[in-house]
Amino acid sequence: MIQKTYVMLKPDAIARRYIGKILTRFEDKGLKIVAMKLRMISEEIAKEHYGEHKDKPFFDGLIKYITSGPVLTMVIEGDEAISVVRKLSGATNPQEADFGTIRGDFGMDTGRNIIHSSDSPESASREINLFFDEDEIIDYSMSDESWIYE
Ligand code: RTP
Ligand code: MG
Repeated sequence: MIQKTYVMLKPDAIARRYIGKILTRFEDKGLKIVAMKLRMISEEIAKEHYGEHKDKPFFDGLIKYITSGPVLTMVIEGDEAISVVRKLSGATNPQEADFGTIRGDFGMDTGRNIIHSSDSPESASREINLFFDEDEIIDYSMSDESWIYE
């Protein structure tokens, strides 16, 4: 099933100049970027985005990290895009993430783990709505689609 997922390159990915390398992985895989914005996120939006973790010991550090510099927010579309992007991202702890995944290749610390991606259709829809207006998500086709999908 074609899905949309919310993906965010965290401030460490931007500061370490990994935008190009990471976007190349999504493009190489055959996924389609349908919305994108480089922005700062407010403490309020950060707390809403990560609301499920509000009682965790790492919550304050997480909010500080995610609001410390620009993030690249995106909506990515493709067949089963939610689980495919989670697999490309790798395990939460970059030391445990498989090599070949974004976190496995670029990170060393759970508190600096490079990328966020939605973990379910419910989270994807909530997060896309939190970060994008409907008219910022573009419906278009790419000329290689019949070579990506049967
Ligand atoms: P994300 O939501 O950012 O895509 O990451 P995730 O699903 O793989 O992991 P999640 O459990 O949702 O945790 C959200 C983010 O909180 C930070 N974290 N720090 N110090 C810690 O023990 C700890 N645990 C989680 C990470 O930045 C993680 O991505
Ligand atoms: Mg999560």
